[in-house]
Amino acid sequence: MAQESIRVDVGIVGGGPAGLMAALLLKRRGINAAVVERRSEDQIYRTHRAGILEAGTVEMLVQSEIDSRVLTHGHEHRGTVLSFNGQRQRIDFQDLVGRSVWLYPQNEVFLDLATAWQREGGAIFWSADHVEVHGVDSTHPSITFHDSAEDQRTIEAELIIGADGSRSSCRRLIPESVRTDYFTSYPYAWFGILCEAPPTAAELIYANSDVGFALISQRNERVQRMYFQCDPDTDPEEWTDEEIFDHIQRVLGENGDVRLKRGPIIERTVLPFRSYVCDPLTFGRLVLAGDAGHTVPPTGAKGLNLAFSDVRALVPEIAEFLGRLRGAAPGGGATALEEPLLRYSRTALDRVWKAQNFSYWATNLLHREPGDDAFAQRRRRGEFDAITGSRYGRAFFADCYTGWTGDWK
Ligand code: DHB
Repeated sequence: MAQESIRVDVGIVGGGPAGLMAALLLKRRGINAAVVERRSEDQIYRTHRAGILEAGTVEMLVQSEIDSRVLTHGHEHRGTVLSFNGQRQRIDFQDLVGRSVWLYPQNEVFLDLATAWQREGGAIFWSADHVEVHGVDSTHPSITFHDSAEDQRTIEAELIIGADGSRSSCRRLIPESVRTDYFTSYPYAWFGILCEAPPTAAELIYANSDVGFALISQRNERVQRMYFQCDPDTDPEEWTDEEIFDHIQRVLGENGDVRLKRGPIIERTVLPFRSYVCDPLTFGRLVLAGDAGHTVPPTGAKGLNLAFSDVRALVPEIAEFLGRLRGAAPGGGATALEEPLLRYSRTALDRVWKAQNFSYWATNLLHREPGDDAFAQRRRRGEFDAITGSRYGRAFFADCYTGWTGDWK
């Protein structure tokens, strides 16, 4: 078995959007990184995730000069529709906050980033096995793993980024004595489908009703993405295509003017719901980014956008950290050295909590809880009317949904 070791500035565990975006932006600053990923490139590309990018996320993709196809293949959405028992209200993002979002699926973001990183000769090991991070509490952290040819490899680095997703093993390297885990669960899940039919409506529709939530999204002119609220134990194979469409139509209203476009269902999955935050996002020579540090429920599609805002906050602080390390400011010690990493954690978490609030709040507003009494659902309708019936309420929704770009926090 061959043994190979490489030395880089930053070792990254996780080749999803958070890890790859970090690798690319570090490279733009002359900082070199290597990425290790447990899954294959194809496996990640085939995992369906959300499709809405905030204005700031699009800006990062465009400004990072990676030839992203977001502006040519994505679609600008200048508003969205909220519906309650068939009554609809449009939230006009452009009018309310002067920003849009873009429909551009996360798989395509991933493909853009993976293509750019490999085209630029960036080191990446797909399908790695036995991935382990060592020495985050020392000055010589490293990652060991078996590559796809089963050769044993080591990446030695100054710093490790844990971007290894919601089931992160890097996160566990932050000792429980210094880490607070914030967590909440929800009594429902989403049933997600892809179906071969043209878009039902020009914009996304988020709908609540007496039979719960549904979301009508899109992928392209031929494929739609839809979700509806279900029990977390649902077996997706138990529903026929017609039952699924009939149910979603019921959520949208039977007698309104939105008639669901139906077609063969080509993918179906049940998506779990949870909210989680790890605080702080750093310990010693480890920093967490993206889902590894926090998970949101899917309502509002904040997951990928938060991964990007983490990276936006992280990259300059890594540059500062490495600058201090190499300048070896005398007398500063480990505390001064790691200060930029703690600053990253604080900056990123401020935004994470705003997104946690929005995802939680929008989830509550748009779902029906099993066991809800008449008061609970009627009150929710009152909340819906208070939000959609006032410019201030609509502006709040629009500001959260499009991503608070004002101060980038
Ligand atoms: C999509 C998913 C979401 O969770 C959301 O809020 C909007 C769109 C999607 O997959 O298209």
